[in-house]
Amino acid sequence: MKKLLLSILLSSITIQGFSQGNVYKQGSGKFEGLAMTPPMGWNSWNTFETNIDEKLVKETADIMVSSGMLAAGYNYIVLDDGWMSKNRDIEGNLVPDTIKFPSGMKSLIEYVHSKGLKFGLYNCAGTHTCAGYPGTRGYEYQDARFYANLGIDFLKYDWCNTAGINAPEAYATMSNALKTAGRPIVFSLCEWGDNKVWEWGKPIGNLWRISGDIYPCFDCEFHHEEGNWSSWGFMKIAEMRKDIRKYSGPDHWNDFDMMEVGDGMTNTEDKTHFAMWCMLSSPLIAGNDLRKMSKETLAVLTNKELISIDQDKLGIQGFKLSAEEGLEVWVKPLSDGAWAITFLNRTDAPKKINFDWKKNPIKDTDFGFEADFNKITFKIKDLWKNKEAGTTKKNFTADIASHDVITLILIP
Ligand code: GLA
Repeated sequence: MKKLLLSILLSSITIQGFSQGNVYKQGSGKFEGLAMTPPMGWNSWNTFETNIDEKLVKETADIMVSSGMLAAGYNYIVLDDGWMSKNRDIEGNLVPDTIKFPSGMKSLIEYVHSKGLKFGLYNCAGTHTCAGYPGTRGYEYQDARFYANLGIDFLKYDWCNTAGINAPEAYATMSNALKTAGRPIVFSLCEWGDNKVWEWGKPIGNLWRISGDIYPCFDCEFHHEEGNWSSWGFMKIAEMRKDIRKYSGPDHWNDFDMMEVGDGMTNTEDKTHFAMWCMLSSPLIAGNDLRKMSKETLAVLTNKELISIDQDKLGIQGFKLSAEEGLEVWVKPLSDGAWAITFLNRTDAPKKINFDWKKNPIKDTDFGFEADFNKITFKIKDLWKNKEAGTTKKNFTADIASHDVITLILIP
């Protein structure tokens, strides 16, 4: 009886909190500080969809270590949709699929942990996941305890089958459930930006998707007739949301989706995709089959200089400074007064760059940074060539191939 009274009291506090427009009255906020730089890792969805099993996870974990990906910073393995049985057990617990994971999820997680990696799972705020497995709606606290007992470190929480559900409330409830369960778990909000998650996600989660699903192409739209929805080329996603960079930062990142590097685009496009994700301070979650990855793909994914731009401790998302006849200039303020600059050729033909720094001062009106090249001279380093490239006293000149990037770091 006491318990019942307490839970009635608690739920009335919750409802009051929401009705005042404050979506996070009920608990004490997310686990802080779990993602001070954008999370890095691997997720099963882009390549394998629901065709996942323990052999794949173990082999992927082994390769993450042996290939140098873990050393480069990729430390999460996340199993996306398809890890569960179609039904909960009689007590309402989720059941990992025993055919896909015959040794049990707990022992698989122990294996992943023994490699020095962290482990994540997926579920959905709705009644069912997007692929039709049991969703968490109504089971938030039970599922959070289940994840904490399993020992996971990351939860991706999707938004399918949510008709009639209020997004900020649903995500806040799960965030609170995770906090109450007590194990620090990075909470990844996968609401696609339908309800402007960037406006309310900061106290609730550590990262949030800003778009629908990615597709391995430069800037196409791929329409799925069945279900009537689209997935998007990486440049479409990079530019889908205007004016949201000010919402991203340490421990609350705009997430531009798992990467498609190594998933069928040209190596040049892979390189550009990776550079854009780094310029945007996006989480870097690989989505390719690591067991079949080429040397070129690995080199893109583990480019230390580019990763250091993504992981810069200032944590400021870059932006497009200019675009002229398909030649774009993207910039990102970095710690210690440095800047990352990416030239991007959007066109189908090669181009020549002749960039006069002095005529192109940078002003970041969201975060208050600026670089006036008439007042300060910067040393330039080309990050893909790993080579010094003069200073900002002289114009920067180079040839740039179609769909290619040149990424520079400017050091004051
Ligand atoms: C949604 C998400 C994807 C993936 C699938 C799984 O489409 O946006 O990233 O998790 O669901 O079904």
